Amino acid sequence: MNEHVMDAAFRPGGLDRAKQGVLGLGLDRIEGPAKVTGVADYAYEGTPEGIAYAAIVGTPVGSGRILGIDVSAAEALPGVIAVIHDDPRMPAGESNSRAMPKFDTDVILHLGQPVAIVVAEDQAIARDAAALVVVRTEAGEDRFDVEAQPVDTKPEIGFLPPVDNGNLDAVMADAAVTLDRTYTTPVHFPAALEPHATTAWWDGDRLTVRTSNQVIGGARKTIAKALKIDADKVRALAPYVGGGFGGKTGVGAEAILAAIAAEVVGRPVKVALPRRQTAYMVHHRSHTTQRIRIAADEHGVILGMGHESVVAQNDDGEFLEPVPFGTLPLYRGDARRFKTDLVRVDLPASGAVRAPGEAVGTFGVECAMDELAEQLGMDPIELRRRNEPETDPVSGKPFSTRRMLDCYTQGAKRFGWPASVPAPGSARDGEWLVGIGMAASLRGNFTVEAQARVRLEADGRATVECDMTDIGTGTYTILAQTAGEMLGLPVADVTVRLGDSDLPASAGSGGSFGAGSACSAVVLACEDILGELALRMNAAPEDLSLQDGCVSAGGRSVTLADLVRGEAIVAMGKTGPGAESKRTSQASHGAHFVEVAVNAVTGETRVRRMLGVFDVGRVLNRKTATSQITGGMAWGIAYALSEEGIVDTRTGAFVNPDFGEYHVAVNADIPQLEVHFIEEVDTSANPVGAKGVGELGISGAGAAVANAIYNATGIRVRDFPVTLDKLL
Ligand code: MOS
Repeated sequence: MNEHVMDAAFRPGGLDRAKQGVLGLGLDRIEGPAKVTGVADYAYEGTPEGIAYAAIVGTPVGSGRILGIDVSAAEALPGVIAVIHDDPRMPAGESNSRAMPKFDTDVILHLGQPVAIVVAEDQAIARDAAALVVVRTEAGEDRFDVEAQPVDTKPEIGFLPPVDNGNLDAVMADAAVTLDRTYTTPVHFPAALEPHATTAWWDGDRLTVRTSNQVIGGARKTIAKALKIDADKVRALAPYVGGGFGGKTGVGAEAILAAIAAEVVGRPVKVALPRRQTAYMVHHRSHTTQRIRIAADEHGVILGMGHESVVAQNDDGEFLEPVPFGTLPLYRGDARRFKTDLVRVDLPASGAVRAPGEAVGTFGVECAMDELAEQLGMDPIELRRRNEPETDPVSGKPFSTRRMLDCYTQGAKRFGWPASVPAPGSARDGEWLVGIGMAASLRGNFTVEAQARVRLEADGRATVECDMTDIGTGTYTILAQTAGEMLGLPVADVTVRLGDSDLPASAGSGGSFGAGSACSAVVLACEDILGELALRMNAAPEDLSLQDGCVSAGGRSVTLADLVRGEAIVAMGKTGPGAESKRTSQASHGAHFVEVAVNAVTGETRVRRMLGVFDVGRVLNRKTATSQITGGMAWGIAYALSEEGIVDTRTGAFVNPDFGEYHVAVNADIPQLEVHFIEEVDTSANPVGAKGVGELGISGAGAAVANAIYNATGIRVRDFPVTLDKLL
């Protein structure tokens, strides 16, 4: 095993020398044809012999107690195989959803909490029967109205410790310029196109689940714990995942319920959540209320900043939306108060949704910076330049790589940012008010433990194996490119096997750490293979040159197939965080630039163009990295203009839990999006030198849109989304 845990800045020799030009290239996704021809088999597809179908029953009320469950009508429906409602097993605490109340607690946490699973001969019967299950309840006090609940200022959940440096109140009192504003964001649904789905079957005491999940190594452990069996008895498969956006980082209730049902009925069972049920059985992003305070001198140099928020969670949830995650390292200023308070509610769990913290935290801070710039009569880019920190403003650590200033400069140039921004409400195009806006973007970079096995096969081709997932992000392709680059092979000669928890444990897809971590493990495994090839060539590894399936050294050239000679060369690589990740402050950076038009008559906003420049370390695949960023920008437009999960405070129900009424952006909403990269290999980040991309594009994107709307209209909306009623 070639292991490197980033104890020092690291330049892998093989990657440094490689000149294939395979890594970084904007190649099409290699699994793309399988997806567009319908061959890719997602979790709900495939029909194992004897399959039965299941539907989940949720509580009809959102608080109180369960008195009893009457399943007789459901059981009597022809085609129903079983109705299960009294199994004492339930997901462990780390799962995202509570699948079933324990026998010893009948407390209702939220509306739609799973309490029974109906198994039938087909899906329609299962869903019909589920509607016939009667759940008798006793009403209790409810906490559906987030704003009416007491605030816990010292929550014991969450991973981001509060920061309180210097005396912000005193700095605010003395500063030449101050700003104190409150911004809010509503509930956001992760809204993956493929709803949560699982097919489960048992072979003796071994369970296999095909499940739509971002992190199957973790899923296997969580499922095993819930079912009280050994993790090595569980195999989780997720070769194709139709989007995750954070909603599939944990195990959904449906996975555990399908496993229980398959055991009870002795047949394979599959279940897919109907769209409306995903709002209740999948976590959402909490609403946030954010108070931003900034104190600056007369030149706009920030002396103090506060980012204090309130977010919501139910009694079972342990996740606290880390609102200032991305705003902590953004700007200078010694006095800093960054904290997040909590209200407990009787609603489905809130959890990590794409760019937890940054997606919404940048809305508050980046709009506040725009307001401050106006107050100072200063260009918003110039204000940000003056407040670019030299080291991490909280820890004092050096940045690994930080090209934020280049993002501003290049972005302004490419966008055509004017020397003087037109006054708000002054630019008009017919009945449209036109405006421009910008915002900074930042996403912390993390490298997590990841392993990969690389086999150089007897025929000179390579195979990469690990339990990564590809949630539509390009994982198959970048793993193949990494191995191809290292071993001198075209991507067509690299087979990637992933999405199987029996393969070496990798990072999974989450936190923007998947690509950098997983590809680094491949780099390390390939370095080992290069060492073996060098031995066989009687050469030093640094003297090898690999290209098109041939290896050359000292004037001699041999095909890889000849050099491998019969038995595959197999190597393992393992990476993880180490001293270097502690020594440096690591993040990806960027700047968004937007032009909007707001209809002066109807208040309708159309984004006309959007452009961003991003500092992401090494770009592994220009096309998939660009797609990641444009996806984030599109979401930024969507949550700026329309996304809003609305709670009925009388019942705890979501009023709009489907795509008919929860409006994500569609093609007609999205103009040409332009993405540019500033590429600087980050040797402190991980062996492949790549920083996170997946959650960078959404960070700051909504704020840039809101700032452009202000410039167009002169109306500052501080409550997302900026719907037309707020502009009239
Ligand atoms: Mo992400 S919210 O870690 O999928």
